Amino acid sequence: MEHVCNLTDIPDDSAREFQKDGQPVVVVKHDGLVRAFINWCPHLGIELNFMPDQFMDSDNQFIMCANHGALFEIDTGDCLSGPCSGDKLIPVPLEVRGDEVWLGQVEVPA
Ligand code: FES
Repeated sequence: MEHVCNLTDIPDDSAREFQKDGQPVVVVKHDGLVRAFINWCPHLGIELNFMPDQFMDSDNQFIMCANHGALFEIDTGDCLSGPCSGDKLIPVPLEVRGDEVWLGQVEVPA
């Protein structure tokens, strides 16, 4: 595991991108949940965002792919609507230790 940031670095209901194992990883914080996913949309296998650290829909309830508007559940990474509906984001192991956010090994999509 590697310490990538502290909880206080990520405002509530938002996400930030970090590099881990040479991959872009999105860490999202919402309603007491902290989750990490590879910045990789299962629709076309490209990054989710156009703007740095902009990963949420307008209501900050879901992770949104800026390319074609797919919405992903924050807790599970499941795609709830959009062209990759039924597919999911690839999770990255995450542990919160006190205020510290640690990430485990990134499994790169095939
Ligand atoms: S690339 Fe993400 S919805 Fe199309």
